[in-house]
Parts: sequence; structure tokens; C-alpha cells
Amino acid sequence: MWFQKCLVCGLKRLCLQFATGRHPLNFYGSPSWFTTELLRHVKLSGVIGEPCVGHGAIASLLSVWPYTKQMWTNDIDPHLAADYHLDATLSDSWAKFPDCDWICTNPPYSEFAAPIIKNAYQKARVGVAAFLLTSFLEPCDDRADFLQQHPPSLVIIMPRFCFRKDKRGSRWATDNVTISCFVWDKSATGQQIIIRPKSAIAGFYKNPEQAISQERAEEIVQALAKLNEVIAKGEL
Ligand SMILES: C[S@@+](CC[C@H](N)C(=O)[O-])C[C@H]1O[C@@H](n2cnc3c(N)ncnc32)[C@H](O)[C@@H]1O
Repeated sequence: MWFQKCLVCGLKRLCLQFATGRHPLNFYGSPSWFTTELLRHVKLSGVIGEPCVGHGAIASLLSVWPYTKQMWTNDIDPHLAADYHLDATLSDSWAKFPDCDWICTNPPYSEFAAPIIKNAYQKARVGVAAFLLTSFLEPCDDRADFLQQHPPSLVIIMPRFCFRKDKRGSRWATDNVTISCFVWDKSATGQQIIIRPKSAIAGFYKNPEQAISQERAEEIVQALAKLNEVIAKGEL
């Protein structure tokens, strides 16, 4: 009887997860403009690790970014293509990942984000760039000390993106809080907040149905790299 009840509860929870688009492992693909907006403001370079790669929304664009020397990927879901399939909340897993200059990811939120970010910060030689609910700034118990000791050097506040449909599956829904790109650049000496209205974002789209093509997103990455070159040469 007890077992049957548990089974029914579990099935009900699973049905609800699928009905509301909630994924048991918190899989939500990032829109391409998350990554292109990050690259507009931060010149990631060297060896880059993506510890929660999903379907590769971030990694696929970083791999065409000319300043990326090498990439490694991980995801706890063994069905997803990745170099490693380890739990990124555990420091033991990070000891198995190769050394890297940057960690760039959109991790699962709720209680999983803080341990992943803390491990990422320890691992990265240069810094961490992560897409997190803006409320990650709140000094909750799981991250208060970390945030106090390591406040992000940059927070890029993004417009809302509808990752999934509402409970009825009829309309695109947003989270209660918008996502920001949190950057911990270990070489930075100050702190900055950048606000990005959707009108300023190349390739912006509101939900996955309106997504631009991968080719278009890669063109934006190449255009940003060219802009970097021009700036480096002092031609702008
Ligand atoms: C919000 S999705 C983002 C996927 C991808 N980074 C992107 O931006 O499209 C989070 C991903 O983290 C993975 N994940 C969940 N818990 C994890 C954990 N403890 N360790 C590693 N990956 C995890 C999920 O399988 C999912 O693919």
C-alpha cells in the first residue's frame, strides 16, 4: 500500500514536471544571446570548461570563438554528449576535470547553483561566468560567505527569457526573477553592473520557438571577435 502510494505520487510529480515543462535535472537550454552578450563584454580565452553542458547551447558558441584554445564539457545526465558525466556539486568531480582558465555555464538553479559556483571558482585560473537568477546576489546561507569574500566583478542584467510553457502548456512563461550573467574575473579590481535592454541585444528572441539559427548566432560570435581585433589594434 505504502509502495503503491509512493509510486502514484512519483508518477504524478513526473507528469506535472512534463506538463509544466519542468525537467527533473533542471534542463533549460540557454538562448544564444546569453553567450553572445557575455562575449560582447568579457573576452573569455584559453581553456574553458562547461560543467553543465546540456545540449551545448553555450559550448557550441564558445567553440567557434577564436580566443577559445580548448574546451571540456560535463553533464550529470549520461544521455547527453559530454566529456564527463559527473555531479558538479561535488568537489571530487572537479578534481577529475582538466585545468582551465575559465568556467562558463548556465547551471541548474535552486540548491545546486551555489555548490557548483563555489567549485567553479576554485577550479578556474582566470574566472567564472555563469547565468544565474539575479536573486543569486542575495546572501542566503548556502552562499553568503562566498559572496562576501568573492563578490562578482561584473553582473550583466539580461531581459527575461521564457524557458518553458506555463502549467497548461499553452503560453510561454518566465521565472519570477530575470537571469543575469555573473562574472568573477580574478584579475578585476573593481565591480560593475551592466543593464542590457532587449533592444540593445543582437539576435534577441523571447522564447525557444523564436530562436535564431545556430549559423546566425555563430555569425554574431564572429562579428564580436572582429570587433575585439579592431579594438585591440586601436582602430576604434
Ligand atoms: C539549466 S540547464 C543548462 C544547460 C546548458 N548549460 C545551457 O546553457 O543550455 C542545466 C544543466 O545542468 C545539468 N545538471 C543538473 N544537475 C547537475 C549536476 N549536479 N552536475 C552537473 N550537471 C548537472 C542538467 O542535466 C542540465 O543539462
